[in-house]
Amino acid sequence: MDNFKRNILITGGAGFIGNHVVRLFVNKYPEYRIINLDKLTYAGNLENLEDIKCQRNYKFIKADIADLAEMRRIITEYRIDGIIHLAAESHVDRSIKDPFTFARTNVMGTLSLLQAAREYWESQTERYEGKLFYHISTDEVYGALELTNPEGIESPFKTSASSEHHQAYGTEFFLETTKYNPHSPYSASKASSDHFVRAYHDTYGMPTIVTNCSNNYGPYQFPEKLIPLFINNIRQGKALPVYGKGENVRDWLYVEDHARAIDLIFHKGKVSETYNIGGFNEWKNIDLIKVLIRTVDRLIGNPEGTSDHLISYVTDRMGHDMRYAIDSRKLQSELGWEPSLQFEEGIEKTVRWYLDNEEWMNRITSGDYQRYYQEMYSDR
Ligand code: NAD
Ligand code: DAU
Repeated sequence: MDNFKRNILITGGAGFIGNHVVRLFVNKYPEYRIINLDKLTYAGNLENLEDIKCQRNYKFIKADIADLAEMRRIITEYRIDGIIHLAAESHVDRSIKDPFTFARTNVMGTLSLLQAAREYWESQTERYEGKLFYHISTDEVYGALELTNPEGIESPFKTSASSEHHQAYGTEFFLETTKYNPHSPYSASKASSDHFVRAYHDTYGMPTIVTNCSNNYGPYQFPEKLIPLFINNIRQGKALPVYGKGENVRDWLYVEDHARAIDLIFHKGKVSETYNIGGFNEWKNIDLIKVLIRTVDRLIGNPEGTSDHLISYVTDRMGHDMRYAIDSRKLQSELGWEPSLQFEEGIEKTVRWYLDNEEWMNRITSGDYQRYYQEMYSDR
């Protein structure tokens, strides 16, 4: 085995955020060996990493994080000293239909990974020195904020990338100290995994960091989530299923800005700390959907307003959280992170990417993406 300065395990690297993190680390740190561990569920797509798959510091392993014996074997065999844990079931609607899969992967999977890392690190002479278990979590664990300003007011917080639409729809924001109050099976499973990570720090002294990020958008997101689903539907002239009245608010961050924050926190974050990640960029779903419609119509050459009729209000998501809004001032002031892209630039880039990568989208919607890679890794 080559002698790398560090051996870093990234879980869930074939998913949406994971592929951006893997790409950033593989390209930026040739001195690190990056091991991407992913089960390749419906959400995992190795096509997302075609551009880096032959790099000498990259390796893919198909495995299930809930398989404790496999986690022990892999962490020991590859002498893992850093873990960035993204693997999870991530879609709220699926969690409402099938909560058990979420408990298995998000809770038992995270616990298996923690236990395997602890056993290996404690068996080393230097024990926890130079090691880190970095757990990627979500703002949804904090629950839902109220919509006290339904029409929106100028947001009290700014970043250098704040856009002209710079609204806050309530007076409260999620802080690192906000009490956990998850509502969906997805967020309950993520909250539980966050608690296990902190318990491994508090009980065994394991070096851990947890970050809670707002909604991500950008290339390679699975088209069950709002933004890629709607871009694809507008392109194809299909209905846009808006849940409830479309008044729910989400706080959007370009995925590469999240990946940059993960890099910074992995290297400079303080062990045992929690950092919130977000760009103070709240949007009501219906306003965001109108931006998507305008952008897609413009880029495919339709006259403005062509696709407005696709908006179709449907039954609301059960237990639909009203508003998420992250206060990321701690990360900004302590580590100097800021988002790099204004939302308008990010959305333009994102819509262009999905329109330019129609084949990627078609291979997902037809199911071909899974057949190809499932066959390639059918031995596991
Ligand atoms: P995703 O669903 O796109 O990808 C998840 C990846 O995990 C897939 O590649 C899948 O194959 C893999 N996976 C699932 N179960 C596994 C298992 N048992 N063993 C190994 N691999 C498994 O998710 P995402 O949107 O990229 O989210 C990544 C992480 O970031 C998740 O932990 C999620 O909770 C968190 N997060 C996501 C967002 C967001 O807006 N997408 C925001 C904040 C936090
Ligand atoms: O806040 C971070 C979270 O953001 C992550 O932890 C989750 O993994 C990620 O999926 C995302 O959760 P949301 O539920 O906010 O994302 P989603 O894209 O599913 O929905 C965004 C909003 O759009 C939400 O208010 C529900 C609404 N929606 C969604 C879909 C898919 C619709 O109105 N219609 C739809 O068809």
